[in-house]
Amino acid sequence: STAFDSILRPVILRAAAADHIKNTATRLPVTARVVDRFVAGETQDDVLSAVAASLAGGLSVSVDHLGEATVDEADAAATVRAYLSVLESMSGLEASGSGRLEVSLKLTALGQSLPRHGRKMATENARTICAAAHSRGVLVTIDAEDHSTVSERLDIVRELRRDFDDLGTVLQAYLRRTEDDCREFAASGARIRLCKGAYAEPPSVAFDTHAQVDDSYLRCLRILMHGNGHPMVASHDPTMIEAAQALAHESGRSPESWEHQMLFGIRSDEQRRLADAGAQVRVYIPYGSQWYGYFVRRLAERPANLLFFLRALAER
Ligand code: FDA
Repeated sequence: STAFDSILRPVILRAAAADHIKNTATRLPVTARVVDRFVAGETQDDVLSAVAASLAGGLSVSVDHLGEATVDEADAAATVRAYLSVLESMSGLEASGSGRLEVSLKLTALGQSLPRHGRKMATENARTICAAAHSRGVLVTIDAEDHSTVSERLDIVRELRRDFDDLGTVLQAYLRRTEDDCREFAASGARIRLCKGAYAEPPSVAFDTHAQVDDSYLRCLRILMHGNGHPMVASHDPTMIEAAQALAHESGRSPESWEHQMLFGIRSDEQRRLADAGAQVRVYIPYGSQWYGYFVRRLAERPANLLFFLRALAER
């Protein structure tokens, strides 16, 4: 796993950005089969079935329309339309208004990387989605992308929280700055999804060993649990899951005041076990045709995920 982390992981994440690799990989029939394990499907109907199944199983959901890093205004507008449409269909679900429904979105899918007006466009597009979600009783959380986008994203979140104070965002424990960000957002009562972080980052901004990232996660978790906000503990790691429960107990939190979160298709048994034991558990459910970046980050995260893909290739 050490060689995987230090050599293979950055190679996979960087190579994945090359167009010729993306084009070849996405054309392989086996890729589609393996992608199904991590993605609910390409259409809105696909994601609604997955949402209904999760709700029926006692889980909350966060729906993610896949896509990122657009530098095309029309693409960003299409992403907004996709969110408005999925929000409309989610508002027909019984769980609507109970806090069990959420959408997650990426600012670079809403135009953040566009030259000149990127920030303004992403802010206004996110505002449109927040307003539609708010009126339908659906929560919104803004995902974390690579480190170059963090400061601007947090500025946008601060700005939007003046109108939508339940807007959440993600903080990544592998970034050296995150402990300070946790302090700020915990004090302001925000919904914060804490994850380890899934991008290839330079050591100048990120911790590079598992032990350092785990220590940072635990420090951040303590700050969030003792703060005024709603911690969202996004991890499949048994150590983080147990620590979250101990810290919630220590800080006198009720089960409704924080939650576990895991990704669709990963440790589904554990998701159910925690929910059955009375914890709040939300599953993050991605859908859409632009699954490539998400899929590669899942492969790079864990040798077993990459092996699963390679085995499927070999069996073809
Ligand atoms: P990690 O990958 O470190 O695994 C630790 C241990 O967990 C393993 O050793 C094993 O014991 C157990 N485990 C993990 N996967 C397992 C499996 N499939 N089966 C059995 N056991 C398993 N990242 C980001 O950069 N920006 C973001 O916005 C988000 N958003 C996000 C939302 C949600 C809801 C989640 C759960 C995650 C994210 N992430 C993310 C991804 C995150 O940064 C991280 O890459 C993954 O969650 C993997 O880290 P873990 O903490 O889960 O454990």
